[in-house]
Amino acid sequence: MQKWVQGRVVELHCWTDRLYSIRVEAEIEPFEAGQLGRLALDIDGKRHSRPYSFVNAPHEPILEFYFITVPDGPLSARLARMKAGDCVWVAPRPAGVFTLSHVPDASTLWLLSTGTALGPFLSMMNTELPWQRFDKVVFVHAVRHDVERSYGEVIARLCEQHADQLISIPFVSRETIEGTIHGRVPAAIESGELETCAGLKIDVHTSQVMICGNPAMVKDTAAVLVARGMHKNSRQEAGHYTVENYW
Ligand SMILES: Cc1cc2nc3c(=O)[nH]c(=O)nc-3n(C[C@H](O)[C@H](O)[C@H](O)COP(=O)(O)OP(=O)(O)OC[C@H]3O[C@@H](n4cnc5c(N)ncnc54)[C@H](O)[C@@H]3O)c2cc1C
Ligand SMILES: NC(=O)c1ccc[n+]([C@@H]2O[C@H](COP(=O)([O-])OP(=O)(O)OC[C@H]3O[C@@H](n4cnc5c(N)ncnc54)[C@H](OP(=O)(O)O)[C@@H]3O)[C@@H](O)[C@H]2O)c1
Repeated sequence: MQKWVQGRVVELHCWTDRLYSIRVEAEIEPFEAGQLGRLALDIDGKRHSRPYSFVNAPHEPILEFYFITVPDGPLSARLARMKAGDCVWVAPRPAGVFTLSHVPDASTLWLLSTGTALGPFLSMMNTELPWQRFDKVVFVHAVRHDVERSYGEVIARLCEQHADQLISIPFVSRETIEGTIHGRVPAAIESGELETCAGLKIDVHTSQVMICGNPAMVKDTAAVLVARGMHKNSRQEAGHYTVENYW
């Protein structure tokens, strides 16, 4: 099999001066929501590739990735300068096990994300699976500033479509914004604020938790769950939470 296929940029959407969504047309193998693709560009004669979670649902033909430009990052800054018609290399085989097929059944599914890591959860929520398998889905997106709450229209549409099941709880850590929780996710679990807001408990009997994004948030959140007697899901043993670190 080829290592790379040529993709064509369909659109680059700019949300803020650092946050972008890139939509790409490329012939790749089917993927499962929550998996990642790889994008690559040739820079000074060398191919630089990085993983990016699919934002689009598997049935949607145009691939979509949501990314932030990081200071001195070789790939993200270049992706942010791309325009419709440009070519980008795409890995033909999607990868990753951060998917609902690796999550046991439960009453409530908690989807906890920071920054750009809302992507895999949007992909999942745009499939039938979470709505068929879980009574309630609590979707958390934590950002520093209100302006970084991208995909508001998509989230509002999902809330409307799944009004009986979906509870969306935004966090903004560095501004006080009405309708959001101020601060960090692990602190709000410890204090009970997140559960009060959701009207649901995070516990071993009812919950599966998926955590994605900033590795410090993943680590701190996992520690709070472990303190409640929860365990990480593994191939050997079903537990209560599943993680994906973005760096
Ligand atoms: C499993 C997985 C999935 C990923 N999915 C996404 C995604 O959907 N969207 C996305 O923007 N990035 C994602 N990343 C990160 C992405 O692969 C790149 O690292 C990022 O785009 C920066 O690339 P770069 O070449 O510019 O800099 P790099 O040299 O790759 O990164 C430099 C530094 O930037 C910081 N950083 C990297 N990515 C992020 C991020 N997303 N948010 C905050 N800080 C970051 C880290 O401190 C990192 O060491 C993912 C990474 C992994 C491992
Ligand atoms: N967003 C910006 O305005 C900005 C500006 C300059 C540079 N950058 C760089 O861009 C990169 C990405 O920034 P980002 O804002 O998308 O992602 P981020 O730094 O991961 O922040 C996203 C959210 O995660 C929270 N968080 C961070 N560490 C946590 C922890 N240990 N436990 C729980 N929550 C935690 C943040 O809260 P806190 O606010 O409390 O940290 C914030 O609410 C970073 O490497 C950053 O250095 C970002």
